[in-house]
Amino acid sequence: MSNIERTLSIVKPDAVERNLQEEIKKNFIENGFSIINEKKIQISKSEAEEFYKVHQSKPFYGELCNYLSSGPIVVMILEKQNAVIDNRKLMGATDPSKADEGTLRKKYGISIDKNSVHGSDSVENAKIEIDFFFSS
Ligand code: CMP
Repeated sequence: MSNIERTLSIVKPDAVERNLQEEIKKNFIENGFSIINEKKIQISKSEAEEFYKVHQSKPFYGELCNYLSSGPIVVMILEKQNAVIDNRKLMGATDPSKADEGTLRKKYGISIDKNSVHGSDSVENAKIEIDFFFSS
């Protein structure tokens, strides 16, 4: 039985600012992901608020939305078997200081806010997040 999934990845402003998007894409390819679509964009604060609305009750929500809209990002649709969980494993813990060796956040992340990458946390949210950026 095939369980090919798609997930949304965002290379966040801190990583795009350091021009790490090609290196991060290499990590995805080396780990068996196909990049189905990608674009470099900058979103508004209100778009960031919509994207992260699941976090709206959190104390870090305002800062998070300011940050995601602060500079260019690269959004990508990734595909492979078990893409959602495998991308979360590859990214590592949200806080780079707690992330395992070899994970993207350990390698590239600067802080819990500037943690270089976002990835969908469930198959259901992956569909919502992919539609958010890639429905025309
Ligand atoms: P991300 O996976 O993009 O989802 C929400 C983001 O909120 C998370 O990565 C972090 O960059 C950011 N964030 C800031 N503070 C916290 C916190 N205390 N706990 C979880 N996420 C946080």
